[in-house]
Amino acid sequence: MLIGLGVLIAVLIAGGITAMSGARPLASLGLPDPGTLTTIGLPAVRAAAETFMVLTLGGTLLAAFLVPPQRSGYLDVSGYRALRIASWTAVGWTVAAALLIPLTVADALGRPVSDVLDLRLLVDLVPRLSASTSWGFTALIALVVVVGCRTVLTWGWSVVLFGVALLGPLPVTLTGHSASGGSHDIATNSLVLHVLAASLWVGGLVAVLVLAAGRAPDRLTGLATAVPRFSRLALVCWTALAVTGVVNALVRIPIAALFGSTYGLLILLKTAALIVLGAMGAAHRRSSVDAAAQGRPGALLRLGGAEVVLMAATIGLAVALGRSATPDTGEGAPSRLEVVLGYDLFGPPTPAALAFGWRFDLIFGTAALAMALCYVLGVLRLRRRGDAWPVGRTIAWLAGCAALLIATSSGIGPYGHAMFSVHMAEHMILSMLVPILLVLGGPVTLALRALPPAGRTGPPGPREWLLAGVHSPVARLLTHPLVTLPLFVGSYYLLYFSGLFAAALPEHWAHVVMNLHFLLVGSLFFWPIVGIDPAPRRLPPAARLGVVFASVPFHAFFGVALMSYNSVIGGEYYRSLGLPWVPNPLDDQRLGGGLAWASGEIPLLLVVVVLLIQWSRQDERSARSADRRAEVDGDAELKAYNAMLSRLATGTAPLVAQSDESECSPGHTKVDANDVEEPSDDQGGPTPEGIAAGQGSSIEDGNAAEVDRRR
Ligand code: HEM
Repeated sequence: MLIGLGVLIAVLIAGGITAMSGARPLASLGLPDPGTLTTIGLPAVRAAAETFMVLTLGGTLLAAFLVPPQRSGYLDVSGYRALRIASWTAVGWTVAAALLIPLTVADALGRPVSDVLDLRLLVDLVPRLSASTSWGFTALIALVVVVGCRTVLTWGWSVVLFGVALLGPLPVTLTGHSASGGSHDIATNSLVLHVLAASLWVGGLVAVLVLAAGRAPDRLTGLATAVPRFSRLALVCWTALAVTGVVNALVRIPIAALFGSTYGLLILLKTAALIVLGAMGAAHRRSSVDAAAQGRPGALLRLGGAEVVLMAATIGLAVALGRSATPDTGEGAPSRLEVVLGYDLFGPPTPAALAFGWRFDLIFGTAALAMALCYVLGVLRLRRRGDAWPVGRTIAWLAGCAALLIATSSGIGPYGHAMFSVHMAEHMILSMLVPILLVLGGPVTLALRALPPAGRTGPPGPREWLLAGVHSPVARLLTHPLVTLPLFVGSYYLLYFSGLFAAALPEHWAHVVMNLHFLLVGSLFFWPIVGIDPAPRRLPPAARLGVVFASVPFHAFFGVALMSYNSVIGGEYYRSLGLPWVPNPLDDQRLGGGLAWASGEIPLLLVVVVLLIQWSRQDERSARSADRRAEVDGDAELKAYNAMLSRLATGTAPLVAQSDESECSPGHTKVDANDVEEPSDDQGGPTPEGIAAGQGSSIEDGNAAEVDRRR
């Protein structure tokens, strides 16, 4: 009932406001009117698609992170029910997204939708219209989520499903209103964070209310965990919505124009809605959250119901906003660079321009600051408990965060989108320097020590999720050297010499994806090699050194190949920028090749040095523990070894362990089993589900000394 009402309100408001304001953003391009069905139908169906999207995301969020699974690792009743309900909202999402494909084609052509319902026409046009393509991708993602919600039964897969659903809002936000015109980089990044925050907040609230109103046998335990957790998430989402909403609005409209245009009026209405929703959230915190967590959800249901109605209305407003033409700010047409990059560049990338030409990257810049803050809070928590944490690790981590911030938000970021050489410098920092510094910070070990354990009876929380992630088969596969090495060196060649990079250059979203790829592939490569945190698979130091040396020639050859390449990669794009200080893009590309060749070797050298230091320290540690054991057992090992040597010298029969009489094969003698060294059990560790349900883990045990100090 609540779900149906929410969708209806969003659809009516989006369609109604568009009808009243007569908004037709494409009319300003001189396109004919596609008719009422498209003009009103498109925002109405879009509002339905976005409302179904947030409801589906909410259901998968609840199953994965708000209610505890069974100890067996299977979803409990509330989680299972949330996914089944989400499978229906995902069907709505799929259908609405699919309907938006012909609607956006009709809108772009200025033709009635009935004219474009021709398969050959759609197959020809959809790939060329970014809005239609993005709704096509959204429909595909939604369809995968439908199947997932109907089939997933375990906690581990519910997390994967949540991850897939989280991709759902991206195609639309990366290609909507915000993706064109001046400052489209800031507008797109802020809209991505904005819509993700709205989806988790609105969807999460509805999922919690459905849980509270339901009759599931585990409803009370579910509420006891879900309500406080969601309340914390809601505050983060509210804040993110406010900041990203204001940033996105200011990119489009100066404050002075707020009171004189439909666009401005809708912004004001949304702002008012967010303030009222904030007040309702505060009221929840004062009264209904504790009551609901104790099994009395009445107040939560009443206030939450009203909140959902207002949220649905705000989504309707948001869609109408996206359909409204932004007011003319009198600033004139954006320059060619502004249209392509989203901003202007006022001269060559001098050291001063790179150092002081900052343009904060809302996604990676925010991530760098959040990562630094979380790490410092973790260290402070250990300090408050009287536990030490090596300062070297803190320095490495904060240096990694600073390098990430500088590579994406200082002048390197903006110039990196316009010049190949600066892009290559950014690439090297993101794929090598940042990951090396971050893995030397030991974030997993710090988190395992700082986060409160769920204990034998408590619902699994962030600490258990982290352990499950590190233990997961996916982590084991992705940290295997036969995977990390080809990924690390192969993606260079694949990206630049296959035409992918050239195709990606004009798309802001593709730069976001490229940067993410550099960071992830670099972290997966360096974590098992020099990472402080125990990786799912630990190679002996010599093998790790081998993996590093194996990457060096590929890396060096990549630089040489770029320097000797005779055609400009992405030539059309770089020539369209027409930067006066890059008269010949091929020279700039060769400079990029030189940078890749030179700068690439430095971090690898750093890794070799760190690896040798770790190796010698490890030797020292095992020597120290051997000495300690020798002190305890009177050096039984050496004695046994010498005895074996003397027996060999005198030709008498060798000795065997005394664990099982029957096993003693002829010619062997029995010895005590405890004298033999136990290998680490990273083969037979518990499953992610098991860990999430509170069973122990070898990674935790493997680093027991480090982690146990907290108990
Ligand atoms: C301070 C309050 C807010 C401001 C200033 C704000 C501003 C904006 C702006 C400027 C856009 C982009 C519109 C365009 O494409 O031109 C947007 C989109 C959006 N906003 Fe907000 N917003 C606010 C609060 C909210 C709230 C509370 C919600 C949900 C509960 C919300 C949900 C959305 C959604 C779903 C979109 C994407 C619409 C679409 O592209 O279809 N916003 N918002």
